[in-house]
Amino acid sequence: MDMNPLKIDLEDASVTSQRSVTILGSTGSVGCNTVDLIEANLEHFTVEALTANRNVERLADQARRLKAKTVVLADPEGYQDLKDALAGTDTYVAAGADAVVEAADQPADWVMASIVGAAGLKPALAAVRRGATIGLANKECLVSAGDVFVREVADHNATLLPVDSEHSAIFQVFDFDNADHIRRIILTASGGPFRQFTTEQMEAVTPEQAVAHPNWDMGAKISVDSATMMNKGLELIEAFHLFPVTSEQIEILVHPQSVIHSMVDYVDGSVLAQLGTPDMRTPIAYSLAWPKRMRTPAARLDLEDIATLTFEAPDPERFPALNLARHALETGGKAPTALNAANEVAVSHFLNKRIGFLDIVRIVGETLNAATWGRLENLDDVGQTDTEARKIAEDLVSRL
Ligand SMILES: NC(=O)c1ccc[n+]([C@@H]2O[C@H](COP(=O)([O-])OP(=O)(O)OC[C@H]3O[C@@H](n4cnc5c(N)ncnc54)[C@H](OP(=O)(O)O)[C@@H]3O)[C@@H](O)[C@H]2O)c1
Repeated sequence: MDMNPLKIDLEDASVTSQRSVTILGSTGSVGCNTVDLIEANLEHFTVEALTANRNVERLADQARRLKAKTVVLADPEGYQDLKDALAGTDTYVAAGADAVVEAADQPADWVMASIVGAAGLKPALAAVRRGATIGLANKECLVSAGDVFVREVADHNATLLPVDSEHSAIFQVFDFDNADHIRRIILTASGGPFRQFTTEQMEAVTPEQAVAHPNWDMGAKISVDSATMMNKGLELIEAFHLFPVTSEQIEILVHPQSVIHSMVDYVDGSVLAQLGTPDMRTPIAYSLAWPKRMRTPAARLDLEDIATLTFEAPDPERFPALNLARHALETGGKAPTALNAANEVAVSHFLNKRIGFLDIVRIVGETLNAATWGRLENLDDVGQTDTEARKIAEDLVSRL
């Protein structure tokens, strides 16, 4: 089996007593949880930079609480408001997509990549290219740039720590030194809010219903991805790039309680799992303190109280996103880039009520079928493919 070139060198890693950190996407769901953990441990952290897209008020508040050196808004429109909100502080204020990349380039030891979507790719790469330790929540950038991203990580001796709860779980029980002793990895999935819906029922669901996840409190896009189960498809591709396994070695298992966050099945019959309450502060803390651990306010797991853990196979008929993502992964090259871009377009149109819930995966499938997606060699290919797939998906939406 080919070893994944991802460099995770436990011996090189150490947590210094004061660590400088940057949070890309600090105003989002993952970002706010990260801010809370850092604020509770300010004696251990200095904050280099915080970034957001438009949320001036929250970003300014976070900058004051964490005494951030730099804050950046991707959308320049709010620049003056942010500057006014931080008047009298030492925080440097900037705006624009390039300024977000520059913020990631500031010399923070640890960077949380929690921008949503492919918009997070360039900033995450800036952190990778200076060899930082990156807590990766932004799965879309790994799906979109795949091998190209992983090669950059290896070339620049960066360290990538998964923040997605499933991948954090696998990371914690995966024996990298004996990867050939691993039979398969099992990604657990809650099944989302429509786990028991018929296709007919799904036809009519609204964005409000789709963003109301039964177990996790998350941003709108990932909540919709969880509802279509495209999230698990993206995670399948993410797992392929993070761990030295083949596509066939990655299984998906629906586990509605979200207590077992994923498992690794070894050749001797042992199955190792990581468990916890569904609280993102646990995997975020794991990546923040790694290779040590830190306390979090996450609720403790009480198995006696939960009493029953259940499991079921995913239904590919009602959730075609799973097979679509696996097909894109196995096709390789530019197909996952196109899948991700089309999904971002379709989800945003669903959230704006322009298209229906089932149209999301339909549009992703039709986008994949609309072109021959060749080899993905470099970052230019990623950008061009992303643009092309978005155009195709937009065109499909306009014809609905
Ligand atoms: N939420 C979870 O529990 C969870 C779990 C696992 C993985 N993830 C992954 O983590 C990432 C973030 O998820 P989330 O739920 O935290 O998302 P979210 O709540 O929507 O937050 C997204 C963050 O990215 C910023 N942002 C949005 N568009 C941007 C752009 N074009 N340029 C720069 N910044 C931009 C937002 O700023 P504004 O606030 O100003 O809009 C916000 O800070 C996603 O990739 C998701 O799949 C999330």
